[in-house]
Amino acid sequence: MKGVIIYSSKTGTTKECAQYIKDFTNYECFDLRDKAFKNQFHFSDYDFFVLGAPFRATILDKPMKKFLKKYGNYLLDKKFAIFGIGISNNAYAQMNKYYDNLIDESEFTVWLNGKIIIEGVKGLSGSITRAIAAQYQKDNKPLPEINKVDLEKFCQKLTTENNDITFDIDLKALKLKYTGDEEETEEETEEETEEETEEDDDNE
Ligand SMILES: Cc1cc2nc3c(=O)[nH]c(=O)nc-3n(C[C@H](O)[C@H](O)[C@H](O)COP(=O)(O)O)c2cc1C
Repeated sequence: MKGVIIYSSKTGTTKECAQYIKDFTNYECFDLRDKAFKNQFHFSDYDFFVLGAPFRATILDKPMKKFLKKYGNYLLDKKFAIFGIGISNNAYAQMNKYYDNLIDESEFTVWLNGKIIIEGVKGLSGSITRAIAAQYQKDNKPLPEINKVDLEKFCQKLTTENNDITFDIDLKALKLKYTGDEEETEEETEEETEEETEEDDDNE
């Protein structure tokens, strides 16, 4: 079975996870923002796909959105696993909105949490990121960290048939309890628009 890791990352958290999975599994690895993906990736070369991307303002990172739009249906004929990255407590609703039936069809889908990285993040994103970090400090809470235990388990699941391995936040298991999208607040909707506009600017 030939495996591949496909990820997108803006500030490096997802990249760090993808690199860890690559080192563990020896799968090939593509950054969706990298030219190598455009030039060297051929969907039909692989039987097992590992997908990972972060959320911002509840929106899935744009390159992964594009990937799912192009290959989502074809993935259903393959084997695949998904890792989600973010700091939201409402991980399932976010993931379900973009990965939809892929969560059901995946071998397993895990939420690995995220980090708040301030260094090198400029403009509006930088201001929002600093504000988020300040709020953690104000609430006397430590900044979020990648769930390294689940990351390790994710890698073990990829390389063994051990069904006894269970995750802290197993999105497939959460699906069983899910009763529908929670309503978006006005604030979130505004943030989404700002973030989308900024991403569009980035790509011009
Ligand atoms: C401006 C901003 C908005 C964010 N919005 C969300 C969000 O809506 N949901 C979520 O789960 N995480 C959110 N996060 C957390 C990111 O997903 C987290 O920082 C992640 O580690 C980023 O991944 P990357 O380093 O691979 O780009 C947000 C972070 C920032 C800086």
